Amino acid sequence: MMQPSSDTPSTGTASGGPGGALSGRLRVPGDKSISHRALLISALAVGESCADGCLESDDVLATRACLQTLGVDILRTAPGSYRIHGVGTHGLAPPDGILDCGNSGTAARLLAGVLAGHAFPAVLTGDASLRRRPMRRVIDPLEAMGAEFSTAEGGRLPMTVTGTDDLLPATWTSAVASAQVKTCVLLAGLHASGTTTVVEPRQSRDHGERMLRGFGAAVSARAVDDGLAVSVEGNASLRPTAIAVPGDVSSAAFPLVATLLTDGSDLELEGVGVNPTRTGILDALRAMGADIEEERVEGAGTEPIANLRVRGRGGRLRAVDLGPEYAPRTIDEYPALAMAAACAEGVSRFRGLGELRVKESDRLETLRAGLQAAGVSARIQGDDLLIEGTSRPRGGVRIDSSLDHRIAMAFLVLGTACAAPIEVTGAATIRTSWPAFGEAMRQLGAAIDTGAAAA
Ligand code: S3P
Repeated sequence: MMQPSSDTPSTGTASGGPGGALSGRLRVPGDKSISHRALLISALAVGESCADGCLESDDVLATRACLQTLGVDILRTAPGSYRIHGVGTHGLAPPDGILDCGNSGTAARLLAGVLAGHAFPAVLTGDASLRRRPMRRVIDPLEAMGAEFSTAEGGRLPMTVTGTDDLLPATWTSAVASAQVKTCVLLAGLHASGTTTVVEPRQSRDHGERMLRGFGAAVSARAVDDGLAVSVEGNASLRPTAIAVPGDVSSAAFPLVATLLTDGSDLELEGVGVNPTRTGILDALRAMGADIEEERVEGAGTEPIANLRVRGRGGRLRAVDLGPEYAPRTIDEYPALAMAAACAEGVSRFRGLGELRVKESDRLETLRAGLQAAGVSARIQGDDLLIEGTSRPRGGVRIDSSLDHRIAMAFLVLGTACAAPIEVTGAATIRTSWPAFGEAMRQLGAAIDTGAAAA
């Protein structure tokens, strides 16, 4: 099946180079995972919900545009604030065009779950990076529930989802700990007649469960022999609510690491989401010797929030050995963490990173190759990444982002700790998660120049 598709242009050259200390206060943009879910779940409620603090990046805007193509009114009332007119769990309209998810795996996989409960065909596609990513992990459970799919070769996008009004409840054991799979199946389960359960081998981020409960859905979780079983009751009617999106800890990871790599730096990050299913990065950096203070603040929503204060270390960070149990709660932060390891004393080992191969790029390989090019010894053993730190990496290289925003930001941060700047090509991809990254880092004093690539 061939369909037209979008491509995020692989444009924009950015650079990160040595400079002075970082200091100041920063509010990182809204959490990407929670922003997608806020729009999607609100769209399925009966009546008007509002969401504040939403991330306004290409990924989340793709979810918004897809929902609008499916007949949902979403009004922007202020920067980051939206009023979403929910149409009920069966109320989406057949789209009059292709649903373009851009670079966003979350948009594609969560929308597939929602579309499974609607009796019309819809075509999902994305950019070159997203069209390489596996969709079988959501197609298999949704087919078991009664939806039909046709895909490009290898179960890839573009794909057509033809849902049904009579979705069957299912118990699905996922081979991977993936919040995208879990939320996708739970969203489909809202439409089914009965209880739908997803079993994941280790707990992945639980934003979907928290938010669904906030909308009145009956969601429960229990430990089972092979992991965690999360269930949702079908035939659900969601009542609209107000959502406050916290700052994204995955974005916070970049200024955090940049601060730790520069002597004399002192940074406060305000309103960061510290859901324990996401804070592996904080535990890992502390295990490396980082000084990170965490002050809990009252939040309006169902997610824990804190202000973080981090100070640059007088000495080097220590290498760390992170077991595979870290992976689900640190999954998007390995690029930032790898840069901390690149400057730490000793050999760091991050274990069980097979899932990094199927992110926006093959992050195991893009990290290894980029670090090597920047003068840091790195290798892959099975699913583990090993990095031998050096006090001042050489830098002075040009690294392609591979359409991967976190690879781009990570190497720009590494450049600030190198002897010579690192140039990143394809840096426009940073817009998918943090359009103002360059400006924010410059305001803190980092010598990061994203030019026209991203603000
Ligand atoms: C996400 C889950 C993670 C993460 C991605 C966002 C989500 O993916 O890497 O950036 O919002 O559910 P997996 O669930 O595939 O691990």
